[in-house]
Parts: sequence; structure tokens; C-alpha cells
Amino acid sequence: MAGIYVHIPFCKTICSYCDFYSVAVSDAKTDCINAIVKEISLKKDYLPDNDISTIYIGGGTPSLLSLNEMETIINQIYKDYSVDINSEITVEVNPDDVNLEYLLGLKKLNVNRISLGIQSWRDADLRLMNRRHNAAQAAQALKDTIKAGFENISVDLIYGLPKTTINDWQSNLDITFSYDIKHLSAYHLTIENGTPFKKMLDKGTIIEIEEEDSMAFFNLLIEQADKEGFVHYEISNFGKPDYFSIHNSNYWKQVNYIGVGPSAHSFNGYSRQWNIKSIKKYINLINEGKTFFEREELDAQTKFNEYIMTSLRTMWGINLDYVEKTFEREGYDYIINLSDKFKKYGLMKVDNQHLILTDQGKMTSDNIISEFMMTADE
Ligand SMILES: C[S@@+](CC[C@H](N)C(=O)[O-])C[C@H]1O[C@@H](n2cnc3c(N)ncnc32)[C@H](O)[C@@H]1O
Ligand code: SF4
Repeated sequence: MAGIYVHIPFCKTICSYCDFYSVAVSDAKTDCINAIVKEISLKKDYLPDNDISTIYIGGGTPSLLSLNEMETIINQIYKDYSVDINSEITVEVNPDDVNLEYLLGLKKLNVNRISLGIQSWRDADLRLMNRRHNAAQAAQALKDTIKAGFENISVDLIYGLPKTTINDWQSNLDITFSYDIKHLSAYHLTIENGTPFKKMLDKGTIIEIEEEDSMAFFNLLIEQADKEGFVHYEISNFGKPDYFSIHNSNYWKQVNYIGVGPSAHSFNGYSRQWNIKSIKKYINLINEGKTFFEREELDAQTKFNEYIMTSLRTMWGINLDYVEKTFEREGYDYIINLSDKFKKYGLMKVDNQHLILTDQGKMTSDNIISEFMMTADE
């Protein structure tokens, strides 16, 4: 069964690290939501069947939508698709937007998973990141989410911020795990081109932390999460058993999905298509009945690279039987031969016909994955 991702491209202000597509809330909000609702209908024949088991409303900042706007979007999905009764329905929430009443309202709309963007419990970090909330607001939002009766709560944290120490990270983890949450997404800071952090880095007003410290932070995260009963099921994702993100796991397992909203991507097993990164142009295209902006047919090499890139980041790793079936003997041999040296150094292992990264391998996952990427002449 497939998933639907809805991208809400609005933010009140832009965070220093972020390069996701979003703009300041404007008069275009209503037109954009109307276009999203229209696109949900336009895309209903995109997949071979329209059975849906996950809905993910992300952004941008979905919690800027009123409950009525959220309801309109969710209802349209129920109207046009066959949504499984046990579907995972996630909404990304920013701590400064929500209160108990709003969260109770989301619950009434069948939302059953909240992803809360806390990022750090330290006010100094939050100010540096240009977040709109402070630590006290984050605590209140998390308490309200629990009080509203959400059982499946995920928290986002960013680590490896300039000037942070291992003790700062330890205390962020301690506070996070002191709450009854079921899932943690913890991302090492990436300084993306075009972001305020990149400008600050170029000017020398911030400096990146040492690689050695990054490794120590990652190690601490893995150890601490394990102690608290969270399974490290993807490089940046930790979940209590039965609480892994089904929607995101499906991306990593090559399950089909529909993406609606400006910049959103869709995948039907053969091609990937995406919407334009401009609200105005997006609204115009949808009103003309166009269901995508650009499309890429996936050739065997792209499919192979995408499979390696996503699967190696997960605890399930590369399924060698699947590789042999899908990419034939050639793809299989390529992987086995290349993996020899990583196995020798204890960075990879084979478990039940799955090639996976060891904890040591996870430390350098990006380098290992890039070695597996096939280029045109291979
Ligand atoms: C698409 S963002 C949106 C979430 C929501 N709007 C919020 O701000 O909380 C999803 C998550 O990606 C992470 N993220 C985004 N950009 C990042 C970066 N450059 N480095 C590390 N993590 C990043 C943050 O933890 C963020 O919560
Ligand atoms: S991190 Fe979230 S709130 Fe901040 S700019 Fe990105 S999408 Fe918007």
C-alpha cells in the first residue's frame, strides 16, 4: 500500500540551517491549499491502485494551518483514496504554533502521530538556529501533545551545532528521553548552500565542529538510544519497537508514494516526478490540470543507486536476494566484490542474506555508500 505526502510550504520565519522549500505565510495560503486539495484529486489515478496506508503532512510548517484547513485536506484524501483504517497519519508540528486545543483538534481528525520539531533544549542553540520557540515552549508543546492523548510522538533534534560540547548533547538527550516519546529523529547539522548558516560560515562567524567530535556525538546518541530501548533502524532515526515511522520506512523500501504541494516528489516504481518550487507557478499549473512539473524515468543504474543509498542507511541493509532478482547477477557480483574490503575492516557484515553496516560502518556511512554508487562506465 502506498503513502501520501502533503507539503505545506509556509513558515513564519526561516531557520538558519534549512533549505527545504518554504516561504513566509502570505495571501497565497488559501489559494495554495485549494490547489493542494485539487491536486489530491488530480493524482488519484497516478498509482496502479489507490490504496493508502500512510499520510504525512510535512513542510514547511503544517501547524500554521487552521484545523479547518487541515480537515479539508485530510477529508479530500479520504474522498479520493481508499485509506486503510489502521493508517499512520503524521503531522509535523512546530512548538510555537500549538496548544492543547489545537492538538485535540488534530486527534479528532484521525491524526495519530505527531512529529515535533524541538531541535535543541538549549535556548542559545535555538537562538543561533533562528528557531521561533524557546526551550520552555518546546516542553509545553511536548506535554500538551502527551496530554492530548497522542501515543505515537516523535521528536526532531539537530546535533553537532557550532560551539556545542558532548555535555550539551548529553543533556539534550537526557531531557528528550525523560518524556514518554516513541521515536527520535536526530540529524547531524548539515550546512547547506544558500542558507544563513552557509553565509555565517563563509564570513567566519560560525565554525563547524571537529569530525572527531561529530563521531563522539553520534556514538553517544547510539549508546543512549539503545539504553532507553530505542532501535536504531535508520542512520538518523530511532524508534521503540512497533513505532518506526511507517511512512518514511516505505520510502526506504521503494514503496510507491504520491507527493502533493509545491516541490513535492512522487514515485510509482518506474518514474519519479516532482512539482515546481514556486507557490505562484504551482497554483497556476494545478489550475491548468497539470499533475507534475518534471519527470524522470528511472533507468536500471538510477534504480540500483537509489536502492543502495536508501537501504544501506537502514538496519535491514541490502537484501542480496532482491538485488540478484532485480539487478541480476551483475549487480549482485558488483556488491559482493565491493563489500569484501568493508567486511574485512569490520564496517559491514552479512546477516541472513542482508548486507548491513556495523556500528563502526555507520560512522562513515556516507563514504561507504558513495563507493557503492555505480557510474556510467561501470
Ligand atoms: C523538513 S524539516 C521541517 C520540520 C518543521 N517545520 C520544523 O521546523 O520543526 C524536518 C527536520 O529536518 C531537520 N533538518 C532540516 N534541515 C537540516 C539541516 N540542514 N541539518 C540537520 N537537520 C536538518 C530538522 O530536524 C527538521 O525538524
Ligand atoms: S526547519 Fe521547519 S520551520 Fe524552520 S525553515 Fe525549515 S521548514 Fe521552516
